[in-house]
Amino acid sequence: MLVSPSLLAADFLSLRTEVELLNKGADWIHLDVMDGTLVPNISFGFSVIDPLSKIAAKPMDTHLMVVHPERWFERLAADGVSYVSFHLEAAGRRTSALIGQIHSLGMKAGVAINPDIEVSKLFPYIGKADFFLIMSVFAGFGGQKFIYESLDRIATLRAEITRRGCEALIEVDGGVSESNASALRQSGADVLVAGSSVFRSDDPLAAMAALRQA
Ligand code: DX5
Ligand code: ZN
Repeated sequence: MLVSPSLLAADFLSLRTEVELLNKGADWIHLDVMDGTLVPNISFGFSVIDPLSKIAAKPMDTHLMVVHPERWFERLAADGVSYVSFHLEAAGRRTSALIGQIHSLGMKAGVAINPDIEVSKLFPYIGKADFFLIMSVFAGFGGQKFIYESLDRIATLRAEITRRGCEALIEVDGGVSESNASALRQSGADVLVAGSSVFRSDDPLAAMAALRQA
């Protein structure tokens, strides 16, 4: 599996060192952008992403938890971001159009849903989105407990992608750790986002390697 550690759990007083750590051990670098409206928290924006983009040696994976994701696509592309996910809850019927905008800027497009959204709501975007982000906690905060029902949601989505003969990565985000990583792989997850379990580990490089090999 691919490991995309969430910088939200990093030490913000040492961001350069934290990114250098991810340059060594991560597959992607997960950047959580929150606007305080779609989710009840604010994280960081371009004042952090612009400088980080200059030292990030792994693909940047931006998770937009904002009500108007399309406002930020061009700046993300200018920063060299590879993967952009936005929430179905924010985009609604504009979801296909937003996927098209991301593609036209040369980036991969992902559609994210919170745990209370029916996973079948993603089915119309199979064959359009490059990846799907299944939240295994409610978006907004790191350090929450993994919701086990997420495993069934991932399996349902994986089965439908396969049934249609399409390809898409499934990324899972929230409460991911070594204790649930192999169950996630068996359910059909491809990309593990992990904040606390990487950055709060005594050995973050070993934690990333263990998730990848789960
Ligand atoms: C939550 C964010 C997550 C979060 C994951 O809204 O989308 O990426 O940082 O953190 P952990 O792994 O601590 O649950
Ligand atoms: Zn995230």
